[in-house]
Amino acid sequence: MSRYGYAASAPYYDLVYRGMGKDYRDEATCLRGFFEWKLQCASRRLLDIGCGTGAHAQHFSELGFQVEGLDISPEMLAVARRRSPAVTFHEGDLSDIKLAGKWGVITSEFGAIAHLLTYEELCQFCTWCWDHLETGGVLAYEPWIRPPQYHLGWSAKRRVCLPELEVTREGFHAREGDVAHLDQFFTIVRPGRVVRFHEQLLMALYTTGQYENAMRAAGFAVDSCYNRPTLRGTIYGKKL
Ligand SMILES: C[S@@+](CC[C@H](N)C(=O)[O-])C[C@H]1O[C@@H](n2cnc3c(N)ncnc32)[C@H](O)[C@@H]1O
Repeated sequence: MSRYGYAASAPYYDLVYRGMGKDYRDEATCLRGFFEWKLQCASRRLLDIGCGTGAHAQHFSELGFQVEGLDISPEMLAVARRRSPAVTFHEGDLSDIKLAGKWGVITSEFGAIAHLLTYEELCQFCTWCWDHLETGGVLAYEPWIRPPQYHLGWSAKRRVCLPELEVTREGFHAREGDVAHLDQFFTIVRPGRVVRFHEQLLMALYTTGQYENAMRAAGFAVDSCYNRPTLRGTIYGKKL
């Protein structure tokens, strides 16, 4: 089993979320609106941290940003590189980012930030972003599930069917302190072949206050939007 999950499931990630109706183009377009209008970002250099298969990165690039992505999973990055050859993708750990440079926007979508397992790491991440944003730049992250909404036990089964491929994913949620243990069981069916595998994700259960305060502690002016444009809302910090 991979340390960070997503290794075996990477080729099916987009299929599962497309099947659930997640619209990356719409999310990127709405986020662009915030970056350009509400928060007036410094430049159009954008870094997407925990970029996964690069769907947001692709749309940000099509919307005119100079995009770079960072992720820890070589398998997710392989999908991202095939999708967007024009975007630069870096392999790296968000708890210890080695990139040099400054960006106008740093973003982290769909709960990738919750892979930082302690509040101290979340604060260090925000400080790194402060140091690597231009003045007037924006940090935007989408939180993961907050403790009151986290339900232990089995989650909904997702099944996506194409003519020659069926992907089923079922999750089991457990908890140790403030860290969620999410076991995901996959069944991949092709004509004459069935493959089953299991991945485990560890994700922190931060409160809304912790997500916002980590940004404030780094120096950001914080603003939040909890029903748009992404599933769990977006927290914005501006480097004034
Ligand atoms: C839920 S996915 C979100 C991917 C993408 N942002 C999206 O919107 O689809 C979380 C991503 O975080 C990445 N990840 C997990 N731990 C990480 C770490 N320590 N450093 C960098 N990326 C990490 C995973 O490989 C995965 O691609």
